[in-house]
Amino acid sequence: MHDNLRACDHIWLNARIASMDPAVDREYGDLENYALGTKAGFIHALVPMSEAVELNSSVSCTDLHQQWVTPGLIDPHTHLVFAGNRANEFEQRLQGVDYQTIAQQGGGIQATVRATRELCEAELYELAKQRLQSWLSEGVTTIEIKSGYGLTLADELKQLRVARQLARTLPVRVKTTLLAAHALPPEYQHDADAYIDFVCHTILPAAVNQGLVDAVDVFCETVGFSKAQSQRVLLTAEQLGLSVKIHAEQLSNQQGAAMAASLGALSADHLEYLDEGGVKAMQAAGTVAVLLPGAFYFLREKQLPPIELLRQYQVPIALASDFNPGTSPLASLRLMLNMACTFFRLTPAEALAGVTRHAAQALGIADECGMIKVGMKADFCCWDIDHPAELAYMVGTHSLRSRVLGGQVVSA
Ligand code: NIG
Ligand code: FE
Repeated sequence: MHDNLRACDHIWLNARIASMDPAVDREYGDLENYALGTKAGFIHALVPMSEAVELNSSVSCTDLHQQWVTPGLIDPHTHLVFAGNRANEFEQRLQGVDYQTIAQQGGGIQATVRATRELCEAELYELAKQRLQSWLSEGVTTIEIKSGYGLTLADELKQLRVARQLARTLPVRVKTTLLAAHALPPEYQHDADAYIDFVCHTILPAAVNQGLVDAVDVFCETVGFSKAQSQRVLLTAEQLGLSVKIHAEQLSNQQGAAMAASLGALSADHLEYLDEGGVKAMQAAGTVAVLLPGAFYFLREKQLPPIELLRQYQVPIALASDFNPGTSPLASLRLMLNMACTFFRLTPAEALAGVTRHAAQALGIADECGMIKVGMKADFCCWDIDHPAELAYMVGTHSLRSRVLGGQVVSA
């Protein structure tokens, strides 16, 4: 028997593996009829079944009977922790009022901020925990969670603590992102620069000191913050040693993606109004394009992100749910795969890379998650499907058979 297999804690036999490893020259990095061995939470062996024949009975095994195995899914952009809902705004928008107008009238993000400030940490935790079940039941093993509905020191930290608590109590990896520059809080209504000072000098350092934050994001938009204000936040974050991301070019072209790329941002997200200069800047910096088809759909956006340019310049494309109560109340990453194919014409293979390898890159964890490869964390899913394209094609079926996190089979 293969030596690496002998040393494993557990072996999954007879697997069809969509490794998503670009070094494997097949559309999904397919490894047909393989054995996958894990050791101490990591993938330790990937061996053709023909080399795994005489299995030592002392190694525990699971026969997958040719089930497909993919990397655990990764949702690299969510606003999971919030209170209340905005069904009333949904109704207004269906009658023709647009998102920006609702925001200018004190609704939008501000409405969720008011509701979120009112709940205590335990209450927010319960809401987020319930929502998170949808991600787990769809095969998600890593989720990013942003703050941004507190906009005070105490309320931003409260949201981040909830995100950290979810990671401690549920079988999922969580990356936290501080998005204190999401909207201007009422306390600073006519002084955005003073609020940016407060974010840079007070909220950011406190979040770092308390170990609550993995990355920093800003909403660079006419209804958010200017490019210069966004840059101040991201520069401060970098000085504190944090990775940076940006909500950019969602509703208009503010050149935010190029600015963030010039700071080496992990990702720029949304990007419907991104131009070629922005694409080039992202390519040069290795910044991932995180597309959010849920927000595109829910806002009935007409402007498509520049998919062909992103392909042409080989900017990695990730996909995320952007789950939030205003622009994407859609708790399904599988639905995003489908929408990315139908709206953005991604191939199902590009879509799957978008919630595995490229999503990992958008979170700065490409060396540990997002592929099935020796040395990576043993986060993977086994599916009752005939082909990986089905993951993007069919929505709402319960095709997940098992979810493995750090080598352990974990239930939803
Ligand atoms: O990603 N663009 C800014 N933030 C969210 C929307 C937040 C909200 O409307 O509550 C987004 O679309
Ligand atoms: Fe968002």
